[in-house]
Amino acid sequence: MTVSVCVAEDVPELIKSAAALFVEDGGSRDPFLDTGWPAREGLVYYTGRVQDPDCLCLLAGDGAGHLIGRLLPPDELRPGAVRAQLESMRVAPERRREGVGGELVDAFLTWAGDRGANEVTVSAYARNETALAFYENRGFRPFLVTLSRA
Ligand SMILES: CC(C)(COP(=O)(O)OP(=O)(O)OC[C@H]1O[C@@H](n2cnc3c(N)ncnc32)[C@H](O)[C@@H]1OP(=O)(O)O)[C@@H](O)C(=O)NCCC(=O)NCCS
Repeated sequence: MTVSVCVAEDVPELIKSAAALFVEDGGSRDPFLDTGWPAREGLVYYTGRVQDPDCLCLLAGDGAGHLIGRLLPPDELRPGAVRAQLESMRVAPERRREGVGGELVDAFLTWAGDRGANEVTVSAYARNETALAFYENRGFRPFLVTLSRA
């Protein structure tokens, strides 16, 4: 499996994977999510992410998946925290459970650690049991819980 850092030419593939994530994940769990957003706004947004030195955009080879992560600015209320956030990730359905996601996350954790991050966070829908099990496997534990009454 090859994992590569996105360059400008990769943005269309990044948008495609992010759009599929919106439909599969948020689209089935969040009635308010605008699943058309990546197709409409993605070119500007994901190009910015690819160009930002505080962001890491990764693609797994042959359309197997993507990951977007970034360093977060300091939080004056939590001065000891050097924060990184895993913003988005997806593995193509036919490639799941082969270790692709693990490889993407490990590359991001290394990148963030090399930049001094001592806290890495990710948000997932409470009903996305696969993602929760996956992140747990990589050492993430519940920290903040968002309660919703829609
Ligand atoms: C979550 C996701 C990225 C995992 O990617 P993956 O490539 O299948 O994960 P890996 O093969 O690297 O799995 C690593 C470990 O995570 C855990 N895991 C992964 N999928 C799991 C599942 N369906 N059920 C239980 N545990 C799971 C296991 O411990 C697994 O190790 P094992 O296969 O040796 O048992 C993938 O399922 C996905 O893209 N889901 C849809 C999009 C999504 O939910 N993205 C996250 C949004 S927050």
